Amino acid sequence: MSKGMSGKQLAEIFRQAADAHQHQRHAEAQAGYRRILRVVPAHFDVLHLLGQSLIEAGQPHDAIEWLRKAVAANPDSTDACFDLGLAQRKAGQSDQAVQSFRRVLELQPDYLKAHLSLAELKFPGERYTTLLRQLHQWLKPANYVEIGVETGQSMALAEPGTRCVGIDPEPRIQTALPPRCEIFAQTSDTFFAEQKLHELLDRQPVAFAFIDGMHVFEAALRDFINIEACADPHTVVAIHDCIPLDGVTSARERTTNFWSGDVWKLILCLKKYRPGLEIINVATKPTGLGLITGLERGNRRLLDCYAQILEEFIPLGYDDIAEREAECLNIVANESAAVKAWLQDRRCSSLSVATS
Ligand SMILES: C[S@@+](CC[C@H](N)C(=O)[O-])C[C@H]1O[C@@H](n2cnc3c(N)ncnc32)[C@H](O)[C@@H]1O
Repeated sequence: MSKGMSGKQLAEIFRQAADAHQHQRHAEAQAGYRRILRVVPAHFDVLHLLGQSLIEAGQPHDAIEWLRKAVAANPDSTDACFDLGLAQRKAGQSDQAVQSFRRVLELQPDYLKAHLSLAELKFPGERYTTLLRQLHQWLKPANYVEIGVETGQSMALAEPGTRCVGIDPEPRIQTALPPRCEIFAQTSDTFFAEQKLHELLDRQPVAFAFIDGMHVFEAALRDFINIEACADPHTVVAIHDCIPLDGVTSARERTTNFWSGDVWKLILCLKKYRPGLEIINVATKPTGLGLITGLERGNRRLLDCYAQILEEFIPLGYDDIAEREAECLNIVANESAAVKAWLQDRRCSSLSVATS
């Protein structure tokens, strides 16, 4: 072995450094890794571990240097490339981080942490659930209809006094739900075909709805049509997943864990076929939250043009709008004061009188 160290000695230094790393004694771990690298400068695992230790120790700038060398030593390592992106993100080098995460996805298209990291970079700020909670607080809706309940995480954000109706063919409730909440274990199409919503809401219009059920365009469109049939002009409809992260995760066919489907086309469709609706699309992570008001019960345009709309929008892909995404999708910054003012201007629910 060169530089006066035997393989056995190197193995012992590595064992001690890895032990120190595991117990977060980072200075000691890094000193050990550096000693090995002086003898074997292109040792992939040690370069990678040194980079990881530097990230964990809060030294992302230093980590970048070693992780670059790790990636050069093994260009096909998705983990090293991901860690390089992580260090770049933490060092404030956002453009380089995006490139590293995209490289990870070239190597392994379903690398969830790379998708989540890209979503963090594309949508800085709070998650959609924070905005949903604020919407409940601002609007103080008499009732709330949620399509796609899953664990109950979003339903639980409703205020205790709100009458809540949840629809999901396979609810898996894991959260305490608001007291006046009823869940229907049905698809939304079946639920609406039974025409019971009006009675469930004591013949009041829907005040606030959240569409987050089946994640294909035509299902979200039908959900919107069915909600509008029970709405009034002050109803607010929130629609999840209206801003794609990229083409693969916003396609109709699901090939990745991180997937928002092609619900985003609903914004394009409503802008074209229902220009009277008021629409903004808030850049919340992980994939945006569309907000719509100005609904017109009895408006038949979407129903009458349903076949034509499907023919027009189903073939679209993200590439068709990527370069003009903000304009095409009415994207606005995730700033709660501005969203609240937008709702206030449209006299939505209690916001026209509420002061807090
Ligand atoms: C993304 S999850 C909902 C997450 C939840 N809204 C939240 O924010 O925590 C989507 C849910 O839609 C439900 N779903 C699928 N097809 C549906 C349909 N046709 N009608 C209503 N819900 C549906 C699924 O069972 C799943 O629980």
